[in-house]
This record gives sequence, C-alpha cells and structure tokens, in this order.
Amino acid sequence: MADINIEFARQKIGQKGFLDIPVDARLDLFREIEALKQKKNAIVLAHYYQEADIQDVADYIGDSLGLAQEAEKTQADIIVFAGVHFMAETAKILNPGKKVLLPDLKAGCSLADSAPADLFRAFKEKHPDHVVISYINCSAEIKALSDIICTSSNAEKIVESLPPEQKIIFAPDKNLGAYLVRKTGRDMVLWNGACMVHEIFSLEKITKLKIRHPKAKLIAHPECEEPILRVADFIGSTTGLLKYTQRDSSREYIVATEAGILHQMQIACPDKTFIPAPPDNHCACNDCPHMKLNTLEKLYLCMEYETPELVMDEALREAARKPILRMLDISAKAGL
Ligand code: 13P
Ligand code: SF4
Repeated sequence: MADINIEFARQKIGQKGFLDIPVDARLDLFREIEALKQKKNAIVLAHYYQEADIQDVADYIGDSLGLAQEAEKTQADIIVFAGVHFMAETAKILNPGKKVLLPDLKAGCSLADSAPADLFRAFKEKHPDHVVISYINCSAEIKALSDIICTSSNAEKIVESLPPEQKIIFAPDKNLGAYLVRKTGRDMVLWNGACMVHEIFSLEKITKLKIRHPKAKLIAHPECEEPILRVADFIGSTTGLLKYTQRDSSREYIVATEAGILHQMQIACPDKTFIPAPPDNHCACNDCPHMKLNTLEKLYLCMEYETPELVMDEALREAARKPILRMLDISAKAGL
C-alpha cells in the first residue's frame, strides 16, 4: 500500500470522486475490510443493487427505507455507505456527529438528477396549496423543499396518511407517482422524472421471455413504466420483491429491477431461477451505472483512508431532516 496519510488522501480525491491509488492485488480485501470495521468501529451499509462482493462484506443489506432506518439507529462511529449519493446523504442528515463515507462520491442517481432544486422550487410555487411528498431518490435540497419523504416500500402509506382532500405534489419519479395514483385513487401533481434503469425494460422482450418460461412470474419495482407494471404478477420495493420470492411457491421469476437484487434472491432460494428482465437496448444488462461505480477496492480504500466523506451545510441538513423524520415516524407507526 502506498505510504499516504488520511489528510493527503483527502486532497488527492480532487475531481475524481474516489481515491485513485493502486491496491496490492495480493490483499484479501474481505479480511482487510472486516479488520477495518473492528479497528474503526465502522458499519458497512449496502443497497441490494451493489455488486455481489460488496453485499457479501456488508453488515446490513437493504432497500432505501431499511438503510435509512439502520443508519438512524447505528452505534458505529463511521457509516460506510455502499450505495449512491442521496442514500449516504440521508445517513449524514440523520447522523451529523458521525463520519459518513461513500466509496465513490460520483455515484449519483439519474432520478435524483432529474429534479434540480431551482426548477423544483418554481414548480412548487405554482402549486402553493399542495403538500410535497418526495421520493427519497432526490437531493438534500429537494428534501428541504418537501413536507414528507417516502420510499418505494412506504409510499402508499405516506400518501394515505394525508387527508383525502389534501392536494399533493409527488416528486421526482413520475412512474412511482402514477402507480400511487392508480393504487390510492389520489389525484397528485407529478414531477416529470424517471430512473434510467427502470425505464428501459422491453415489454416485447418480456412477453417473448414469458412464452419461453410460461410458469415464470414477472415481479417488478414500481419505478418501472406502466405497461410493465400492468402485466406484473407482483409489484414491490427491492425488499418487497425479495420477500415475495421467499414466500411464493413459484420456481421461476422474471425480475424487472436492477440486477444486483438477484444475488440475495439466489442466496435465499438457491433452487429457484431468477431471470433479469430484458432491457430495450442492445446490451443485455440492466445494471445501474451509478450504483456500480462502487467497487470492493474503492470500499477498502475509503475505509482505510476515511475519504471520500459526506459533508453537508448544517442549515440544509436540518431542513432536509424534518421530512425524513416524518417519514420514519409514519413508517414506524405503520409497522414498516
Ligand atoms: P428501493 O430501495 O426502495 O427498493 O428503491 C430502489 C432504487 O431505485 C434505489 O435507488
Ligand atoms: Fe437512481 Fe435508478 Fe440507479 Fe436507483 S437504479 S440509483 S433510481 S438511477
């Protein structure tokens, strides 16, 4: 390992977003990461969309709600967030006194990027009598402009927590928003954002796949577009999809979400078959390019040198915290 200290490492991040130094190929990174967790009282939280190696070293793997709940209650001094920027930011918002590390600061989110704060502020001003529910996949600035945050596993409960006559803006995911309109019967004003991964599934290719696998069930994340959701046998958050495949009696599933979730599905049900839903592009992959910026090497380096670190403006953090706490409170009362 190069002989550098934490301060030098911090300066070296520069524009890259991660610490770009060579890692000795002979190192057993699984063992090194375990040792760093002990030495630094660090916890590794990983989203299901992370690569399999990262999931295998994580202390907790979950969906966006589970990760936020875990971040809220951890006693660790350092939270290492193997996910994307808005997730690590949420952990920091909930834990101002803890060091929150993200292996690659450039691990962003196309959905979060689809809602720039200045445009959203103007949009909100056009609907002054509306309550703003924002999906957690958004920046801290959008959270600060929101009344309540939601995730895919509690969105329905959050919408239903508001009185029926209450007017609602839902941002930034128009697909999840439209799904909630259909589910709850509420007429919400939707921001026009979407996730680049969940928008590319091909109904035509899924239909052909179903002909070849007639017993396979189609399970889909609510960020998918309506034509996919209309033919899905089950719709849920990543945790919801994983749990469904464990309790359901089918043997085969076509999975319409980011392919990283298949790792836990296969671990939980090794005898079942999980087929990634085919995307409408010429490569056969539905990986999230942002999530997959994190690697085991970057995870190891960020723990060793405690950088890149999430730092936030305190006033912004405090403003973004309120709607997240409201979400956590409603979720806890709903038993989620
Ligand atoms: P959940 O974690 O709520 O399933 O959402 C998936 C996602 O797109 C995260 O970026
Ligand atoms: Fe964002 Fe979509 Fe990637 Fe999730 S899968 S981080 S919503 S781009």
